[in-house]
Amino acid sequence: MDEQTTTSSAPTSPLPRDPLVEIIGVKKAFDGNEVLRGVNLYLHRGAVTTIIGGSGSGKSVLVKHIIGLLKADEGQVLFEGEDITPLGPRKLGEIRRNFGMLFQQSALFDSMSVEDNIAFPLRQHTRKSSREIRDIVSEKLGLLGLEGIEKRFPSELSGGMRKRVGLARAIVLNPKVIIYDEPTTGLDPIMTMNVDRMIQEAQEKLKVTSVVISHDMASTFRISDRIAMLYKGEIVEYGTPEMILNSSKQMVLDFLEAASSPRTVEHQTRGTT
Ligand SMILES: Nc1ncnc2c1ncn2[C@@H]1O[C@H](COP(=O)(O)OP(=O)(O)O)[C@@H](O)[C@H]1O
Ligand SMILES: [Mg+2]
Repeated sequence: MDEQTTTSSAPTSPLPRDPLVEIIGVKKAFDGNEVLRGVNLYLHRGAVTTIIGGSGSGKSVLVKHIIGLLKADEGQVLFEGEDITPLGPRKLGEIRRNFGMLFQQSALFDSMSVEDNIAFPLRQHTRKSSREIRDIVSEKLGLLGLEGIEKRFPSELSGGMRKRVGLARAIVLNPKVIIYDEPTTGLDPIMTMNVDRMIQEAQEKLKVTSVVISHDMASTFRISDRIAMLYKGEIVEYGTPEMILNSSKQMVLDFLEAASSPRTVEHQTRGTT
């Protein structure tokens, strides 16, 4: 998508035209089910870009293309200018080290201590000594306000702490991009604000580029520099939060209204502790 044309007539906050990731005309189908029908999207360096859209609209599929877990049928995914779509597994593995991912459930290993959870990517991908690993783990924990919990197990942590430990593991290889797939789904409003704060702190301290998938509109409008809405396999709206709020497109307005209705909020907070 050409940001120049999208923003020319609308109020905008200045972001350098310096995309870290460019998604160009990406198409993806599964057994004839066309999920992405020509997606164009920029991820600006140093910005938080949030992808919104209905459940099943392809948000997770889209981010899997960004990290090379899925290959586009057509189109390109450029990381720092290099098209990653033709790359083989080995090269893709290298590219993937630039990304840290945090999933909804934090996906911690329950049988491992916090230290071993966070150290896991280091042991897999580097040859660092146990001393170095210990130092890196405690540095990351300190960064996220969790010093001293190395020996605890996930079951002994609050939900908020588990999220932060998941993030500590996601950033342990110093990625350039952090991807959060529905980090606040199932959380109450207070926990959601805590996760928002965590994302913003990580953004400031680590100077990373962030991609967030969210259907929590309050959270989306708090944390995003750019918002992109995926609808029927395409990005139908893209811009600053203000531009999205002022969108003239019916599907965007409908989505915003539905996503912020009390019923949805009730649905989203059900099952939290
Ligand atoms: N590996 C896969 N194989 C087949 N279909 C898939 C696969 N991954 C996702 N899909 C389908 O793609 C669509 C979009 O899924 P997804 O990206 O997970 O949606 P969401 O926007 O909720 O994250 C869904 O219809 C899903 O069933
Ligand atoms: Mg998803």
